[in-house]
Amino acid sequence: MNRFVLGALTALAGLGVAGAGVVMTGAVSVAADEPHSEALFGFFDLARSRAVAASAAGIDVPALDDDEQVRRGAGNYAAMCASCHLRPGSGPTELSEGLYPAPPDLSAGAPDPAVAFWTIKHGIKASGMPAWGKSMGDAHIWDMVAFLQRLPAMSADDYLAVVASSDGHSHGGGEHMMDDHHAAADDDHHPTGDHHAPAPPVEPAEPARKTHVHADGKSHVH
Ligand code: HEC
Repeated sequence: MNRFVLGALTALAGLGVAGAGVVMTGAVSVAADEPHSEALFGFFDLARSRAVAASAAGIDVPALDDDEQVRRGAGNYAAMCASCHLRPGSGPTELSEGLYPAPPDLSAGAPDPAVAFWTIKHGIKASGMPAWGKSMGDAHIWDMVAFLQRLPAMSADDYLAVVASSDGHSHGGGEHMMDDHHAAADDDHHPTGDHHAPAPPVEPAEPARKTHVHADGKSHVH
């Protein structure tokens, strides 16, 4: 081994030890309200987009232009995604503002279909994006991808109309509404929020219901 290689390896080992030392002092911030440095954020962003692009490369994208797919996807989007990814006219929500990395505003631009399918199915580690494939079949995910292609062109009224015409939250996962609880769509939607469950004989009073969303994206209603 020549002296140059030996020197480089020693320097690398030194850096590794110094890095481990900094980690062990607890000086690396994990607070979601303290952004990474630009360089570190750029590194994570590149790693994520390269990994997702590589995984999505082999996915065959089916036809996504059927109005029925869009209609079916709308109810699930309102129930499970709009709280983080917004809807036309909603403005930011507590979740979209508090999460780091921030969820992209999907009402502003449509993601690539294969990338969207893979991301929805598998989620993104150490971000707020859950792996929906654990509870949602591929056909339901493609319906949502079809919906996402149309979403940016929808007005607030178009959105509310297609959500109201949708079958509600329909993938058998049994989760509850996650849309902004002040939103009109939510009010329209609650009665049909979970059409698998038989209607309870007495609806609990509306103000007593509070959707509690955990960091991993799962929610339940108190
Ligand atoms: C609790 C918040 C949260 C919920 C709920 C959520 N997401 Fe996400 N989503 C995120 C975050 C955060 C990211 C970005 C992750 C990153 O950049 O590392 C993301 C990324 C994505 C992306 C990738 C966009 C791109 O251009 O790469 C898509 C597509 C997406 N989410 C769709 C959905 C859909 C559809 C739903 C509902 C079934 C959903 N998300 C629910 C937080 C959420």
